[in-house]
Amino acid sequence: MNSVALDNQRVLSGMRPTGRMHLGHLHGVLKNWMRLQHEYECFFCVVDWHALTTNYEHSREIEPAMWEMLVDWLAVGVDPGKAKLFIQSHILEHAELHLLLSMVTPLSWLERVPTYKEQQEQLKDRDLATYGFLGYPVLMSADILIYKAGWVPVGEDQVPHVELTREIARRFNHIFGREEDFESRAESAVKKLGKKHSKLYSQLRTRYQQHGDHEALKLARALLAESQNLTLGDRERLLGYLEGGGRSILTEPSPLLTEVARMPGLDGRKMSKSYGNTISLREDPAQVESKLRTMPTDPARVRRSDPGNPEKCPVWDFHKVYSDETTRDWAWKGCTSAGIGCLECKQPVIDAVLKELEPIRKRAIEIEASPEMVRSIIKQGCDAARDVARDTMDEVRQAMGLSYR
Ligand code: TRP
Ligand code: SF4
Repeated sequence: MNSVALDNQRVLSGMRPTGRMHLGHLHGVLKNWMRLQHEYECFFCVVDWHALTTNYEHSREIEPAMWEMLVDWLAVGVDPGKAKLFIQSHILEHAELHLLLSMVTPLSWLERVPTYKEQQEQLKDRDLATYGFLGYPVLMSADILIYKAGWVPVGEDQVPHVELTREIARRFNHIFGREEDFESRAESAVKKLGKKHSKLYSQLRTRYQQHGDHEALKLARALLAESQNLTLGDRERLLGYLEGGGRSILTEPSPLLTEVARMPGLDGRKMSKSYGNTISLREDPAQVESKLRTMPTDPARVRRSDPGNPEKCPVWDFHKVYSDETTRDWAWKGCTSAGIGCLECKQPVIDAVLKELEPIRKRAIEIEASPEMVRSIIKQGCDAARDVARDTMDEVRQAMGLSYR
């Protein structure tokens, strides 16, 4: 039995509508998404409501920024035939789940989220003393839990939010997964697995519960994923029964941290629009060239004859992303021995960036010329996402006893 393949293979990620994408987005996020779209069932969401949590006064800027961003997602090769691309606010179920989760989320959990205080200190010009800003990690939890995603590709800074999502899911399952006669219902569900599988399930459950054997837990989950003729309720019972408690309605996700190349901005700080140090994916080639040519280098190299230290130069970080070993070797030696000048050193980087961006810019122009196509792609993504979200909400309402008509 291949337990890895049977594990939860659904990925969800969200991005705020920030307008045109730049090289930082491409190397930090989008290339990773493009790898994942081949290996997992991916849901990529424009989290437009999240933009409101820090910037509600500028709500009208969301729409144009969103279309610009989507054009770039498509232009780089995020594939709507593989991943579902959709807009958070088009799936109203996110708001419903957010509301229901907010009822069971302790205030102290939210006040403890690191970004809560950090952002209030950093973004002094914004009004972050709102209910919406405090609750923003609950909204993110709803985004993830409504798709029962197993994996959430995020940067380091977002990991605490995924952890919070796990805690909220666990708390929800604990409160609403309970049933009067859970044990006996679970036991009769075990029998429905068939002779061979029910024996295996019970053995694996014992191994996990008595010896904390996580491999056994994984195998048992895989066994359940394989079992065809279980009702949804029984499946949730058996998942929950593995770990004790009650039914498992919401799935605990894990952060998916991938090694990404550090893509610095032109000044060596993180590439970010607010620092004005970006190269956008649709930047005019002449502009790309002039930005890179004027980019600062190791300040020790005042004259051509002064040797430098690549570790102190943002161009070196570009070499790490764009150059092969031979070129990096050449740059390192030339820099430290003052054998090459900085403009010479930058040339292979300039060439590589131009080469990378050319097809993206061309595709973006084509895509921009057919806004109807973009809308239809998003509509399809939204329809597919909504189907999943609706199913989850049916289960959630039922578990809470809210499915009366
Ligand atoms: N909180 C994320 C950010 O600010 C965006 C986000 C919202 C997200 N919902 C998500 C990311 C769900 C991953 C999964 O960047
Ligand atoms: Fe930077 Fe290259 Fe100049 Fe060295 S030679 S300071 S690595 S640009």
